[in-house]
Amino acid sequence: MNYPIRIWFLFVLITVLFTVSCSAESSNPNKSTEAEKEMKSGPQPVFPHPEIDISLTQLKKLIDSEPVFVQETILARPQYFLELAQQFLDLPSWAGVLVDKDHPLPEEYAPDDLVLLSNYPLTLNRSDLRLSRVCMPSVLAMTEAARIDNIELVYSSAFRSYSYQQGLYERYVDRHGQKEADRFSARPGTSQHQLGTTIDFGSISPEFGDTPAGQWLRKEAWKYGFSLSYPEGEEKLTGYMFEIWHYRYITPSGTRLEREFFGGLQQHMLEFFHRHRNFLENQ
Ligand code: DAL
Ligand code: ZN
Repeated sequence: MNYPIRIWFLFVLITVLFTVSCSAESSNPNKSTEAEKEMKSGPQPVFPHPEIDISLTQLKKLIDSEPVFVQETILARPQYFLELAQQFLDLPSWAGVLVDKDHPLPEEYAPDDLVLLSNYPLTLNRSDLRLSRVCMPSVLAMTEAARIDNIELVYSSAFRSYSYQQGLYERYVDRHGQKEADRFSARPGTSQHQLGTTIDFGSISPEFGDTPAGQWLRKEAWKYGFSLSYPEGEEKLTGYMFEIWHYRYITPSGTRLEREFFGGLQQHMLEFFHRHRNFLENQ
């Protein structure tokens, strides 16, 4: 090929390549409509979640009355938060129902799947303890894990009916007066023990916190879905003084949410879902 022919050939080649690439772009029907769609569709969803369809603006508004640290942790990982929240919301109501001084259970409420703990390889302080079957796999796994670490978990209180709680509360009021009793004993209908998913361990006293079992639970219980309901220094929030022995089963997705987004405070987390459950479920 002599020099002018080579130039002519290069020119033709470039023209052909240019034409082909332009026609490929204009024949892609999605390209311009996708961009248009994005411009028209307004606030973008946090992510394409199959069930919670929520924009970042909506999420910010939803959490704007939460403590600042809660807002910050949620907005740092909104997708992870919504995914865990969805998993938690999908659970039956016992997992996330708020039971506290202002949110009582009906008098007649009792789980219909109570099982006697004496039928299981557990160490009990009394033989009539019962729990809802839903937490038994976690109870057994946690007890076994503690045993491997040479820790014996002693089960001291579990399900308490409305009437049992009534007798207990009245005895405490007689002994300590109502004001003091209200700091550590729930009035009938307001005890988490009525859910059948709450356990008191060991001596049911502050000294339990100094025992190997108390310390082991503080470190490990969350991995099995058990949450310390009344932590130290949070009486104003929870309504109760520090109870190092009282754990409620809120499932592993619950304890992850609590630890990672609500500063380890069950009350904050359950109040959040109590307030926003309807909104989140209807997205
Ligand atoms: N001690 C807790 C608050 C209860 O009575 O359920
Ligand atoms: Zn308790």
